[in-house]
Amino acid sequence: MCGIVGYTGHKKAKPILIEGLKRLEYRGYDSAGIALIGEDGLMVSKSVGKIKMLEEVLGDREYNSHHGIAHTRWATHGEPTETNAHPHTNNEHSIALVHNGIIENYRALREFLKRKGIQIQTQTDTEVLVHLIAMNYKDNLTEAVRDALTQVEGTYGIAVVSLEHPDMIIAARMGSPLVVGIGEGENFVASDVSAMLEHTNKVVYLDDGEIATVTPGSYEVTTIHNTHITPIIEEISWTLDEIEKEGYDHFMLKEIHEQPNTLRNAIRGRLKREEGIAYLDGLNLQYDELRSIKRIIITACGTSWHSALIGKYMIEEIARVSTEVEYASEFRYRSPIVEDNTVLFAISQSGETADTLAAMREARNRGATCLGLVNVVGSTIARETDGGVYLHAGPEIGVASTKAFTAQVMVLALVANLLGRMRNWSVQQGQEMIAAIEKIPEQIEQILATNDRIKEVARQYHKADNFLYLGRGINWPVALEGALKLKEISYIHAEGYPAAEMKHGPIALIDENMPVVVIALKDPVYDKVMSNIAEVRARRGRVVAIATEGDTEIEDKVNDVLYIPQTHRLLSPLLSVIPLQLLAYHIAVMRGRHVDQPRNLAKSVTVE
Ligand code: AGP
Repeated sequence: MCGIVGYTGHKKAKPILIEGLKRLEYRGYDSAGIALIGEDGLMVSKSVGKIKMLEEVLGDREYNSHHGIAHTRWATHGEPTETNAHPHTNNEHSIALVHNGIIENYRALREFLKRKGIQIQTQTDTEVLVHLIAMNYKDNLTEAVRDALTQVEGTYGIAVVSLEHPDMIIAARMGSPLVVGIGEGENFVASDVSAMLEHTNKVVYLDDGEIATVTPGSYEVTTIHNTHITPIIEEISWTLDEIEKEGYDHFMLKEIHEQPNTLRNAIRGRLKREEGIAYLDGLNLQYDELRSIKRIIITACGTSWHSALIGKYMIEEIARVSTEVEYASEFRYRSPIVEDNTVLFAISQSGETADTLAAMREARNRGATCLGLVNVVGSTIARETDGGVYLHAGPEIGVASTKAFTAQVMVLALVANLLGRMRNWSVQQGQEMIAAIEKIPEQIEQILATNDRIKEVARQYHKADNFLYLGRGINWPVALEGALKLKEISYIHAEGYPAAEMKHGPIALIDENMPVVVIALKDPVYDKVMSNIAEVRARRGRVVAIATEGDTEIEDKVNDVLYIPQTHRLLSPLLSVIPLQLLAYHIAVMRGRHVDQPRNLAKSVTVE
């Protein structure tokens, strides 16, 4: 997600802002920029790439400025380019703004601004904000920001400066964290305290719907409805390392806990509830083109291949379109058959995985329409596909993919819904799925609240040398994903299998030393899975079941149960994977592993 830093005080602003951005680098970004207000007016400088590129653009020039804002951008709307980098300014170049979040109604606002004769300069959602502020500005910058924000739907953390108020910063928060740092004759604004901790540990956290007016000697907080707020000053005792992980011990644990919000971002602005249909204009396919698709190929690697398998179950059951899932590394060398009306989905968190990129190119050379389900905006796969859907999961720092996986599954559910509603799926069926989708984030929060129980189960099994994961139907890929999570961060050998396949070999492995994790939800194959569990227990195998809340009959048939809420059958992977992520995490920690950077692994495999 984006990083914001603001300074107003008696020191030179540029070094404070640049150092503050460097403290935010851990958040992941693709471009950076700075706006300084001084004797030369409003100076804005931006660059693609790392902060050192911005420093090169700024050069050694002494900027006699004591007031400014700066930004690191994680692109969501508009590729990572210098033009799209923040800060954004109004066309009179008198106001500058930086933003973290997603403006949902930016398309309508762009049209509104164009009708007012305002030239739009970038591909971003953010730019509409600075023009609205300029349009509403009379002589009070806080009021102009307040009036502009009442026209906005979505999430934001913003900082705004203006030539007309050369020592003032306006900060506002809705859904994206923002904090005011209190100094001596100087004050700070940032998206998290790590950017200001070397200057002050006294901070005021803004809440959603609050606006702060900050000057070197003052800070006033009001609500968006202009109700005065008495700010509470807190003293930060965290270390920088703890702050970057927001108090979690590892990025992976933080990212597991981010999933309710990252899934809210994945569906934000993409659901038409009345029609029971997903809105995915990024696919660049008209409804008749969507209806004409005869065959779908989904290609990916690793965890992304597991989400692809889940997508197959969803699309074939909902849309009745033949869908095959291919390991990218195999597809690219197999001289694949691609007929007319074939669409290939390339799924990739990084958008840079060499095998997936090559497979996508191979399919396109053979005439397929290629679409990307990618997390990193402007990545190679995203740029080379004919369209796609961004995951909006934010930067995934932990090598073991968690929030990107659930975002992929969620986006695949939206794709299946859209394809289904283009065919025989009724409005009611679409609405039922969308209603279930909207409950998922809160249900994940319920599962995350059982973390201590999951940790207790992890402690019982963390010394095992081998694990078997079993699942049926749409939860078979979840068994694969659970096994991959465990093996890649704990180095325990773990295999995922379709539960029925156990009889065809793996059952020979079962004994009291082989824990077997079984996804045994109350669904049409529950009884079959219970038979598989009995087969394991008959061989002294120890079973950990992922079960549906309320299923008490399972308790005396297994050794341990981890419960998840009931949801739409085709959405159950979004919930059943959560205990498996935490189980793998806790076992790896108990075995003293480097959870965020496991041995031999890279976050993005850009080589064959
Ligand atoms: C998953 O935890 C692993 N890090 C790995 O399997 C990963 O999913 C795979 O390399 C694909 O990466 P991508 O999604 O960035 O293409």
